[in-house]
Amino acid sequence: MEAFKVIGNGPLKGEVRVPGAKNSVLKLMAAAIMAEGKTTLTNVPDILDVEIMAELLRRLGCEVTHETKTSTVTITVPKVIGHKADYDLVRKMRASISVLGPLVARCGEADIAMPGGDAIGSRGLDIHMQGLEKLGCHVHSEHGYLIVRAENGLAGANIALDFPSVGATENVVMAAVLAKGNSTIDNVAREPEIVDLCQMLVAMGAKIKGIGTSVLEIIGVPKLNPTNHNVVPDRIVAGTWAIAAIMTQGDITIHGVKPSDMELVLEKLRDTGAEIKSVEDRLNVSMNKKPKAVDIVTLPYPGFPTDLQPQMIALNSIAEGSAMVTENLFEARFRFVNELARLGADGKINGHHCLVKGKNKLSGAPVEATDVRAGASLVLAGLVADEVTYVTEVHHVDRGYDNFVENLTNLGAKVERVNI
Ligand code: UD1
Repeated sequence: MEAFKVIGNGPLKGEVRVPGAKNSVLKLMAAAIMAEGKTTLTNVPDILDVEIMAELLRRLGCEVTHETKTSTVTITVPKVIGHKADYDLVRKMRASISVLGPLVARCGEADIAMPGGDAIGSRGLDIHMQGLEKLGCHVHSEHGYLIVRAENGLAGANIALDFPSVGATENVVMAAVLAKGNSTIDNVAREPEIVDLCQMLVAMGAKIKGIGTSVLEIIGVPKLNPTNHNVVPDRIVAGTWAIAAIMTQGDITIHGVKPSDMELVLEKLRDTGAEIKSVEDRLNVSMNKKPKAVDIVTLPYPGFPTDLQPQMIALNSIAEGSAMVTENLFEARFRFVNELARLGADGKINGHHCLVKGKNKLSGAPVEATDVRAGASLVLAGLVADEVTYVTEVHHVDRGYDNFVENLTNLGAKVERVNI
């Protein structure tokens, strides 16, 4: 079994570069299938999920290349594409369902395997379906597949989402841009990755107004063109490095960041006592004392991101004082707290809340990554624990963090990938 062997080893110091966002690139790859021809994406992270999405697009008939040296993906889309996403890929990566909107828009039909169980809790698809039905789709399930048909084509509609779901916003927007007529979509997610997707769609010829706000006005167009697009920086990876600097009382300069996408995160991190300077696309995070515990509440953007919640629990577990962490999106993310307890952390869970009491030190032990962010957070905790921590199920971390071990080693950490 593969594991990360982590030895607690003092401050992390140096420079690191963040790649494009996982939560954006997968959707941009899905969007590419809406236009015949060659789309090129740059600033693409070298992560497992990009390979899974590439495989999914190949099965639809596209040619996909991924050059890791130049961080570039090209997707060449034929005139006629398939309309099916198989279970073996969807179960590996839930973001596979983001081909749903593009497929119904392009082919008028999509058969998508239902994602089923997920490590971070029940994640419905009802909001995706309600939006697509408003645009003229019929949806039913059969043999584990969602069968979506738009026999008479898609027609623009007024849609109000029940909740600003990231995935539902993406699917509904991608379908609406090729629908006949106008759509107004209210209560959409406003995450920077949604803005990135909308900007790429506009570059492809889509007509979208209100980008970055909670109401999008879309005028349907008959066809989109391929484009070149640079993926927005990964604010979650940037946040993870910032938290690593604070936990280890180190000094890290993070390059390739978009600080304006991280305002609340940076404010919360400053509350720990850290010094944070941002200049253009660089963030310098330094800390010379034990961090103060900080309360956080996860919410859709511009609220605090759920994808940085486990890292903040790890930070609070070695902080001065206690903090209340409230999780409003994926309750099962607290499963990670039981693993952290194996390192000596004190977190008491009550429904959506976790009260974390800062400890003087953590103590190394074998632990299991329960999802991508939990895995990274356990490594951060291992960096400030005494002796050795082994983090298993590291394939989760490979899904979201580009060259994680190499980057940590460059910052002075004692971390290696081992077989145990
Ligand atoms: C995306 C990100 C994930 C991030 C999350 C919130 C990807 C691959 N994943 O997930 O990393 O943590 O945004 O920023 O980009 N919901 C429903 N019904 C629906 C859709 C959602 O009930 O039809 C609920 C979910 O169960 C959850 C909440 O809405 O409680 C938010 O989900 P959503 O914003 O859709 O997250 P994802 O797109 O799944």
